Parts: sequence; C-alpha cells; structure tokens
Amino acid sequence: MKKDKKYLLTSALPYANGALHLGHLAGAYLPADVYARYLRLRGKDVVFVCGSDEHGAAITMRAKKENISPQEIIDKYHNLNKGTFEKLGISFDYYHRTSADLHYQTAQEFFKKLYQQGDQFEERTNEQYYDEEFDQFLADRYIKGTCPKCGHEEAYGDQCENCGSALSPTELINPVSTLSGNKPILRETKHWYFKLDKHEDWLREWIDKGILDGKQHHDPKTWKKHVTGQCLSWLDGGLQARAITRDLDWGIPVPLPDAEGKVLYVWFDAPIGYISATRQWAQENGKNWEDYWKGGDDLELVHFIGKDNIVFHCIVFPAMLKAHGDYNLPVNVPANQFLNFEGQKFSKSRGWGIEQHEYLEKFKDFPNKEDALRYALIRNMPENRDSDFKWDEFVDFHDKELADNLGNFLNRVVVLANKYFEGAVPTPGLPWPSTLGGVEELLDKWTNELESFHFKSAVNLVMEISSAGNTYLQDVSPWKIWKEDPDSLEIKDCIFTSLQIAGLLSVILSPFVPFTAEKVRKILGLPALEAGDLEAAIHAWKKQEPILKPGSKIGEPEILFAKINNKKDQSLKEIVDSQKQQLEAILEEENKMEHPALKPEIQFEDFTKLDIRTGTIISAEKVKKADKLLKIEVNLGFEKRTVVSGIAKYFQPEDIIGQQVLVLVNLAPRKLRGIESQGMILMAEDQDGKLGFVNAPDGWPEGWPVA
Ligand code: MF3
Ligand code: ZN
Repeated sequence: MKKDKKYLLTSALPYANGALHLGHLAGAYLPADVYARYLRLRGKDVVFVCGSDEHGAAITMRAKKENISPQEIIDKYHNLNKGTFEKLGISFDYYHRTSADLHYQTAQEFFKKLYQQGDQFEERTNEQYYDEEFDQFLADRYIKGTCPKCGHEEAYGDQCENCGSALSPTELINPVSTLSGNKPILRETKHWYFKLDKHEDWLREWIDKGILDGKQHHDPKTWKKHVTGQCLSWLDGGLQARAITRDLDWGIPVPLPDAEGKVLYVWFDAPIGYISATRQWAQENGKNWEDYWKGGDDLELVHFIGKDNIVFHCIVFPAMLKAHGDYNLPVNVPANQFLNFEGQKFSKSRGWGIEQHEYLEKFKDFPNKEDALRYALIRNMPENRDSDFKWDEFVDFHDKELADNLGNFLNRVVVLANKYFEGAVPTPGLPWPSTLGGVEELLDKWTNELESFHFKSAVNLVMEISSAGNTYLQDVSPWKIWKEDPDSLEIKDCIFTSLQIAGLLSVILSPFVPFTAEKVRKILGLPALEAGDLEAAIHAWKKQEPILKPGSKIGEPEILFAKINNKKDQSLKEIVDSQKQQLEAILEEENKMEHPALKPEIQFEDFTKLDIRTGTIISAEKVKKADKLLKIEVNLGFEKRTVVSGIAKYFQPEDIIGQQVLVLVNLAPRKLRGIESQGMILMAEDQDGKLGFVNAPDGWPEGWPVA
C-alpha cells in the first residue's frame, strides 16, 4: 500500500526581539494555520512547526545598548510571541526556539556535513569594520553613514532606505558605529562562504520549470507569480558566495577548530530551526522526524512567509538542503505580500499599527476578538498584492458578514428547531435536495481554493454557503407555513436541511474561525472537531447522509456575534473609535512639523509667466570645485539645455540619467562657476531639506508645458 502523504508546514521563525503586529499574523502565521487546520480536518498527517529566531546581530546589539543579556530579551519575546499565537488559535504542533540544545546540535551537524564535502564552502579573509570601544566587529546593520548613491546621511551598511540601493559597509561615506558612535576601523577577519553560485543552474530549472534532478518536482504554475518572479530576477542577477559566519559572541559557535569567536550567521541557522523543531516535536511525541523531511515523493513541505523572506526560502535554504543531500525541497512557498495599516506601513517608531498582544489586550472584553481578527485578516489577506487593514472594515466584516449573514442563519435555524421540534433534529419527509443552493459546487470550489492557497476566496465561499442557507430558509419561510399547518412535512424538511447546512458550516468554518466553529458545534449538539471530520462531512453532504442525525438533540440558541456597532452597548465601538482617533492624533502631530511659511499671494498672470516644460536628463557631471553642483543636460524635445543644479549632495550624476524632470525654461540664464545655466529643474524638498525630482506621469512626451 502506498504510504500516506505527510505534510510539513512551517511559518517563518519570528525574531525574539520584539512583538509581532497584525501584518506578521496575516503574512506568515494565519495562512499557515488555515492550511494546517484544513489538512488536519481532512485527516492528513500534518506537522506544523515554528519557533523563535533567537540569534542575529539585532538581538546582540539591542542587549548591548540596553545593557541587559540577550537571554533576557529572547526569553521575554519568546514567551510573549508563543503565548500570543496560542491565544489567537495558531495551532503549531511545536513552537521551538533556536537557543535550544537540539537546535545547536542540528545546526552544527548541518554545517559540518556541508563543510566535509569540501566544495560547498570557501574561506575568505577580508577587512571588516570593527568598533574598538565595544571590542567587536560590526554587523552591516550597525554601521551608518552617508549613502554613496544618493547622499542620504542615515544609510545602513547593508542598504540605503532612501534610495533602496544594496550597499556594503565599506561603500558608506563617513561610517559610524551605531554602538559607540565612533568611527569604526577596518580589521582583517576570516569567514566561511557558502558557494551559492554553484547551485545556480539547478535552482533556475527548479524554480522556472519545477524540475529537480531531471524529474518533475512540482508544477511551477502552482507557485505565486510574485514569488517566482522575485526568484528569477535574483537568479538573473547571478548568485554569489555568501558569508555564513559572523564575528559575534551570541550565536551558534562555528564547529571548527580554527573558528574561535565565530558563530553561524543567523540566516544559516534559523531555517535549520524548522528541522530542529520537527526533531523536538518527534522526540516528544514518539515520532520519526525524518519521515517528514526525507520522505521522498510522499512529502509536502510548504514554507509560509512574508515577501521579504522569499530569497532565503526559495534559493538559499533549498540550496543548503540540496547541498546537504537527503532532504526534500519545498513544493511551494506561498509567500504573502505586505499588509498595511490604515493606508500606511506599520511603523513602531511612529506608533502606526497595532501589535497582536496589544489588540488582545485592548479588546479583552470582546468575546469574539480572536475570530473577528482572524476573519478580518483573512478577508483582506495580502495574497498577491499589498493590502490594507482598516478599522471600519474590521467592524463591517464582523457585523455585516459574521453577524448578519452567518450568525443570523445559525441563530434562526436553532431557534426554529427549538420552537417547532423541542430542539430535536426532525425526520425529513423527502430525501433532501442535494442541489440546494449550489452548496455542493461551492464546497468543491472551496476545497480547490484551499488547496491552492487562496484563503481569501475560500473564506468568501464559506459565507456564500451561509448565504445559500439564509436564502433557502427565506424562500421556504417555515414560519408562514407553521401558521397554516404546523404539522406540514415541508417544515420538517426545511429545518432538517437547514440544520445540515449548519452542521456543514460548523466544520468548514473551523480553519478560519476555529473558536466560532467549536461554539457552533456545541450549540448543534455536535462533538468537538477531530481529525478527518471534514472528509466525513463532505462525504455525507455528497451522499446526502445527515451530518446531524434525525432525533438527535441540539442545544439552546446563543448569540454568536454581538455586534461591535451595537446601539445598546457602544463599548466595543468606543474602543475601535479610540484606535482611529489615536491614528488621527499621530497624523495631526506629524502635520504640525514646521512647514515653511507661505509666500505672499500672487495673481494668475504671475503664474502664467512661468514656462515649465517636461524634459529628460541626458547627461550629468559634477562641477569641479563645487561639491553641491551638477552640470546637467536636459532634452526638451525641441532643444537641449544646460542647467546647473545644486543637487550633487543627493544624486550621483550617473544615477539621474534618463530621469524625467520638469524645467522652468524661461528663467533668465545665469552663470554659475563659469557655466551658463539655462533654466531650473523643479525639485520637491522634505522637512530635512532632502530633495526629490518632480515629474510628469511616466512616459510623458518631452517639451510640453505644465499648466
Ligand atoms: N527571523 C526572520 C524574520 O523575522 C525569519 C526567519 S525564517 C527562517 O524575518 F527560516 F529563517 F527561520
Ligand atoms: Zn541612498
């Protein structure tokens, strides 16, 4: 007999140095949980692991700055995050941590295996920045300086957040250690590099065609376009060896004799955390972990992550697994895009957004807080593009969809069954109409959507089934028949059938709103859900076998969803409103930041004197002995102009070629450093005096006036 397929699901291990916000939940944890719960209900053999990512420079540096131990930080956030996930019903089979012994052992064994192969790693010695006061090498993130590309003064050693360029620390102008504030010195150090470039060819074939070792490994069409796209463009850029060790005193020691003071790079050890978590789970549950990692074709490994982790999960970690040998590669990495919050990025420093545990705390008196949040986040999941969490939608999803549609249907059925049949499931007169409201088709669609990671659409289908129930109930209107003929078989049929829909809902709701599903089960007199119940429910529905047997007892009606926007009790609405006000206050505060005073009024004629035209920069060079000035040539279509512009601090000449601009063309020429400037390029300025180009819509023709 063919072995039963095994599923191993992972969610990105969150860093244990901070709390998680709703965007994290919607990105990597909730979708994995929906999928895990779905598979378990189908009776599949599933292990769902996650844990805390407890290494990395961020944790070390924070500890140094706050003068506490890294252990204190990771303990605090490991417990907070683990507890919060539990409260929100994220059903990990194991929530491990990368500071655990078994993880150290697993990561070191993994490293050694690659090392022993002789051709996976390469040793390199080079110069890196060192903070003499703190006596340590500086991680890229902990060096700040001026961006060589755009002049931004707060660029990091690995990236400039102003212009998005990837940097290396030695490119920064005026580098400063963020630890001591001193200028770091360069010092020689040795590191091990994983030769990722060796893996480029098979990776491309695997990602592009789904082919691995000459066999079809997965259907590449099942991967999200944005995931494949990001990977292929990375591959097109060419892969390079990556350092997988660091000079830090916090982390997993490099298991080699000549590696004192060196630890594994956090992105090397963290994904191995998926393996060690599985091992730990297996140990504690009498299972064999290798069945889930080395199961050949009978295994589905799926990584749930946010889009910022795509390259690590689709390229680097698969290359590590392949280099090691024996391990299965993921059949899918259904990464999500980002969730915004009321139209803007989550930002801890601005106070924009809400963390998971804060949400639970603020809404502690809201009985449906967990499911209301889960529902809202799934309804708006950033599956293929960035999406937005809005408080008003949160209220509407709960009140209009969960309460008015689902709650209303379930409540009516239970009330009527209690009223007409003393809470017993009636025996129908007719075989029940299988075509009812298209439920069977909806159910098939629902399964397909879940299998292809379209959770947003899947949850909508559950609501459609509930709507079908409402429509059916309304069409028959048993309360009208009751007035004429309380013994009518039609009433029995209708209540029986409606109860079957309710029973079905109690199962298919569970991946999304598990707390509600269990409440519904109780009200319907059904036992708590168990593995395989979905399989049984689908089978029953298709064969028209009752999910709730005639004669069995159901419970009393209960209000499942008291509305947030409730006329009698405004307390929840007030919490929501205060959240909205908090955001308004942030914006107001930020808008108060000194804006330059307004200039005196002018007349329309004054404005029409300005001749502003669209143009494109065709060349640019630095003006000698003038560090602020660039000599720029602009093509206006009808002629070319030379403009001298004071933007050299912000832009490198080579980076602005091709830039579309607006030029004030009738400004009297003037000489600057001996060059005649024939106009002015329009720039926008921010509160720090940073400049950015103002331009016409993309691809606008050159030389046309701006009016
Ligand atoms: N800690 C990383 C982050 O929060 C994710 C690590 S995922 C793993 O971005 F695969 F490395 F575990
Ligand atoms: Zn920059």
